[in-house]
Amino acid sequence: MAVDILLDGLKRLEYRGYDSVGVAIASEGLKVFKDKGEMSKIEPLIPRWNGQMGIGHTRWATCGRPSKENAHPFVDCTGRIALVHNGIIENHLELRKQLEEEGHTFTSETDTEVLVHLMEHYYDGDAHATLRAALSRVKGSYAVAAMVEGDGHIVVARKENPLVIGVGVGENMVASDVTAVLGLTNKVVYIQEGESAIVSADGISIFDAQGSTVDRQPTPITWTVEDAEKGGFEHFMLKEIYEQPAAIHNSLLGSLDEIYAGAVIPDIDVSSVKLVACGTSYHAAMVGKYVIEDLARLPTTVELASEYRYSPGTGECPFTVLLTQSGETADTLAAAREARRRGCRTLAVTNVVGSTISREVDHVFYTNAGPEIGVAATKTFTTQLIAMYLLGLRLGAMRQTIDRTKVRHLSTELRSMPRYVSGVLDRASQIEEVVEMLVDARDIFYLGRNINYPTMLEGALKLKEISYIHAEGYAAGELKHGPLALLDASTPVVAACVNDHTREKMLGNISEVAARDSPVLGIGVEGDRELAAITDAMIGVPRVPPILSPVPLTVVLQLIAYYVAKKKGCSIDKPRNLAKSVTVE
Ligand code: AGP
Repeated sequence: MAVDILLDGLKRLEYRGYDSVGVAIASEGLKVFKDKGEMSKIEPLIPRWNGQMGIGHTRWATCGRPSKENAHPFVDCTGRIALVHNGIIENHLELRKQLEEEGHTFTSETDTEVLVHLMEHYYDGDAHATLRAALSRVKGSYAVAAMVEGDGHIVVARKENPLVIGVGVGENMVASDVTAVLGLTNKVVYIQEGESAIVSADGISIFDAQGSTVDRQPTPITWTVEDAEKGGFEHFMLKEIYEQPAAIHNSLLGSLDEIYAGAVIPDIDVSSVKLVACGTSYHAAMVGKYVIEDLARLPTTVELASEYRYSPGTGECPFTVLLTQSGETADTLAAAREARRRGCRTLAVTNVVGSTISREVDHVFYTNAGPEIGVAATKTFTTQLIAMYLLGLRLGAMRQTIDRTKVRHLSTELRSMPRYVSGVLDRASQIEEVVEMLVDARDIFYLGRNINYPTMLEGALKLKEISYIHAEGYAAGELKHGPLALLDASTPVVAACVNDHTREKMLGNISEVAARDSPVLGIGVEGDRELAAITDAMIGVPRVPPILSPVPLTVVLQLIAYYVAKKKGCSIDKPRNLAKSVTVE
């Protein structure tokens, strides 16, 4: 029965994180069951309908909180079309308005629901043509599967979201990830960007973006279920590091265009900003201080949530931004409550829609990085950085402290960031080799200046967390005030030096370190011969405006931490003593 196959497949995808579950089965009409919550609680409630065709979904909320109404599948007003979707429909508000004016009744807060009503609008008996017509109206990204009751086939399409067809014997399956079909077949057909397909029990037809037929043979899969969960990567952390180009893209989706429209924060009178967070999120906040002061010329302070919550306060009410990828960190939640008690307007930057923090603040910015399984934060950090740039641009635009040319330049560079990050990922094997110089160290110093001082704090934290090597992030100008005494040939230094106004000073600091015989691993702009000449090894990153350099540098630092921990045989995804979300004080 289709329902059992769907539930098995959805269970295999549970590791990716979700907040609701749903299935639709073609069985004497369309039958739908969906709800918020865990699979183990929902599965026993789902009737075992007799149908042979169906679609199912586990949702990770992005637009609209986790709820039964917002869970997929969605059904049109006639009750004949059902649809599931991964991705984000950027122009959903505009489409929803038009469809409501035409008489369509919406039942959810999601962006996805416009797709099923668009299908209803265009439906003429050909589900594939109808889906293509509906998708021609949308801006955004999708992997979508839809079925019309009585049709005997499912229609699918993809743009910027993965989609795979499992080829079985007398049955075929569609999924967003090969893991979901592994128990049933080891032959799959990957749907490529812009393609669509019609899938029935005994046939698969694939079409390119223009609607012409595509001939593609199935690929045999040799992965185990466990391999596939990690998409072929050895660890979730590595998979998540590699997901950063897509995560950054999703984080930026729509936001740059809407920056002037108040999408990030509304028009409010801001005279100072306070950024509050813990751990890695605190480092994103520290980068945020440089960004906001530079772009918006606003006095900005940064505080650890665990300190802020017990601090006396000054009677002032800065605009208070709380960064927490999980949205559940106890100290950050307490800080949010304290900020509101003090009368401050609050904004949360979080990755989890519907998380506790989103209900405790005045405004929310979702980073849309997708679920992160590895305990060490990677893609949730770089997307927090993106949030800081968007916030800085918004505040700068509001206060007219940056001109349009600069906004345009930074926006273009931000749009190119997924490509720059891919450029860093291409250097992974060089990084894997070079970390030999760090693996046996007992202590390592991470040095940076200006906006890359917090970048290096984050690099050091990443290394500590997963390799258990003592690593200390330091502002390079502070070296001479104490830590220089610790440096010798057994203490390597990782130093960031980009093309900003502190470059000469940083080169000087690196020379001081090298003079104490510390092996130096430099990270700088590719082709920087001066840096290469004074370091023992150098990793180059693409040239970006210095204010954006924390993003590519961070990806190098994540890979350094990862490969050191791997060479040491550490438990990378679940480091000892640490939890993904720290819900206790
Ligand atoms: C990150 O790698 C750490 N696991 C940890 O420092 C984390 O950033 C911190 O606990 C804050 O978490 P949050 O972003 O969910 O609030």
